[in-house]
Amino acid sequence: ADSLTASVQALTLQSTTKTSKFAGCFPTLNPMDIYREHIAEELGKAAGIDSDLIFSRLAWTNTLDKGDLSLPVAALRIKKKPDELAAELASKFPESDLIHPPTAFGPHLQFFCKAAPLTNTVLGRILSEKAAFGTNGNMGLKDPSDPSKGQKKIIIEFSSPNIAKPFHAGHLRSTIIGGFLANLHTVMGWDVIKMNYLGDWGKQYGLLANGFKYFGNEEALTKDPINHLFDVYVKINRIVGDQEGPIKELKEQIKTKKEKGEDVATEEAELAKLVDVSEDEKARRYFKSMEDGDPDALALWARFRDLSIAKYKQTYARLNIDFDVYSGESQVKAESMASAYKAMEKAGVTEESDGAIIADFTKHGAKKLGKAIIVRKDGTPLYLTRDIGAILERDEKYHFDKMIYVVAAQQDLHLAQLFKVTELMGNKDLASRCQHINFGMVHGMSTRKGTVKFLDDILRDVGDKMHEVMKKNETKYSQVANPEETADTLGITSVMVQDMTGKRVNGYDFNLDAMTSFEGDTGPYLQYAHARLCSMARKSELNIDELDSADFSLLTERHAIDLIRLLASWPDVLVNTSKTLEPVTVLSYLFRMTHMLSSSYDVLKVIGSEPELKKARMALYAAARQVLNNGMRVLGLNPVERS
Ligand code: ARG
Repeated sequence: ADSLTASVQALTLQSTTKTSKFAGCFPTLNPMDIYREHIAEELGKAAGIDSDLIFSRLAWTNTLDKGDLSLPVAALRIKKKPDELAAELASKFPESDLIHPPTAFGPHLQFFCKAAPLTNTVLGRILSEKAAFGTNGNMGLKDPSDPSKGQKKIIIEFSSPNIAKPFHAGHLRSTIIGGFLANLHTVMGWDVIKMNYLGDWGKQYGLLANGFKYFGNEEALTKDPINHLFDVYVKINRIVGDQEGPIKELKEQIKTKKEKGEDVATEEAELAKLVDVSEDEKARRYFKSMEDGDPDALALWARFRDLSIAKYKQTYARLNIDFDVYSGESQVKAESMASAYKAMEKAGVTEESDGAIIADFTKHGAKKLGKAIIVRKDGTPLYLTRDIGAILERDEKYHFDKMIYVVAAQQDLHLAQLFKVTELMGNKDLASRCQHINFGMVHGMSTRKGTVKFLDDILRDVGDKMHEVMKKNETKYSQVANPEETADTLGITSVMVQDMTGKRVNGYDFNLDAMTSFEGDTGPYLQYAHARLCSMARKSELNIDELDSADFSLLTERHAIDLIRLLASWPDVLVNTSKTLEPVTVLSYLFRMTHMLSSSYDVLKVIGSEPELKKARMALYAAARQVLNNGMRVLGLNPVERS
């Protein structure tokens, strides 16, 4: 992410931020904005239409045959049949150096860029701006017309696993999508705070601490804290399970006896004894001591937490992710929750019910949100309560412009309740700055040896599988300098690309064979496409840094021009992605490009072409490699140079 930040800054500094008369138009950063500005002004003048209106209605196209930009003329709100209006505007549009005479296609006016100027601008810019091409530091400014007011700040809360519990598919997706959202906002100039909100508080940590007394092992803890704590947790939970049976039985006996009017004093004494020595009760007491600030209890817990975080950091690094803040349920201050209770009470959000404090959303115009307990009978806070405290603390501490929670759709209700409470408490503005980015379930995520426990297990298993797949192509395999490492990177790419292939709300099946294949729109295929362009550059023996002096006018073939048109739209794809917040918006663009590339290799040969032509084509491929690389980095992938 640091290198992403650097590239945005480089470009924003370099561009004199030549301001356009149109809002959100950055011709020095986005080549398509040159065309939007041009069309809006020319058509506005020629047809007597407000150029701002035209500018705002110019749309990008899904396929190149529909033009580079398209104007749905109905959106101009002129009382004329759209088809006729389109034809009329087409005929009025003046001759232009930049674009061909527009074509009316039904109710659309289609604009095609003239190849030569587009090629010069686009290839020239990509080759000089490199990693910064497509980024736009202005989008994240508080006020684009006055950079001195600074950047907008966004908190992205994601991953958020629970200590001593499995890192499940929901955490994996949150990590992948959250990492992507952080990169996206970084290249769009936001000040991004990446936050991990750990599940690190509650009775289960009392259980874990007691379990550690029986089953803990210092060496194992320091060596592999995550797995060791999970083992301990499983073992102590087994005991809890074993103890539950007799307790339940006794409770039933008491109930039946009572119904018959019999005396139950002995049974009740027996029950009290059983409960008193049960691990569940001991855990409750231990956790109470944590809540009361017992230093020893807290020290042990802090060690578990710190060691787990240290280990998580290593794994996140493999995914190119580093968090700015490791927050968590434990970090929410009692005072924040207390002042939240007061505010909720004062605003009439909460009420008493059976000794507990609840919020009944049905009484506040939010029927679907039902009721939620805010404070238990015994006075202890809940998951929701901590989130309410946390949202207030974060607002106060960070003064963010936006906060995104990347959490599974299973928690839709929880987050809707959180935002509603926040609003009802009188923090409407705060609630409006928060957004839940949700996603569907992954089915059947397991390693080949059994079900998964941790992210590391998944990554190792996919890496192994990838290594096997690579070995099948002996000649290629022998050329890879560091096969283990490459397999590892390709494995991670496989998992991430599979995850990003559909819309977030859709779930998918975790399919090891499909995701590690080099065929189809997979991670390995994307990496292969990048590596192939790298290899072409190596074999060309040209100086890649001098390609911008190539004679671009030699690039005249349909394949070359279409590829350039696609490259020109990369900055727009990023703008669109900031609206959809979907990784698939970037990913489908990249696959479109790889498909175009693969059909170009036979037509636009580099090796064997005349020196000038060879150089021009290599410039085109180098530009494509750069944009592919930029896109992969936004997704959080590590592009490989050989695969
Ligand atoms: N630790 C939670 C879980 O694993 C996810 C936390 C989501 N974030 C939040 N602010 N509630 O289910």
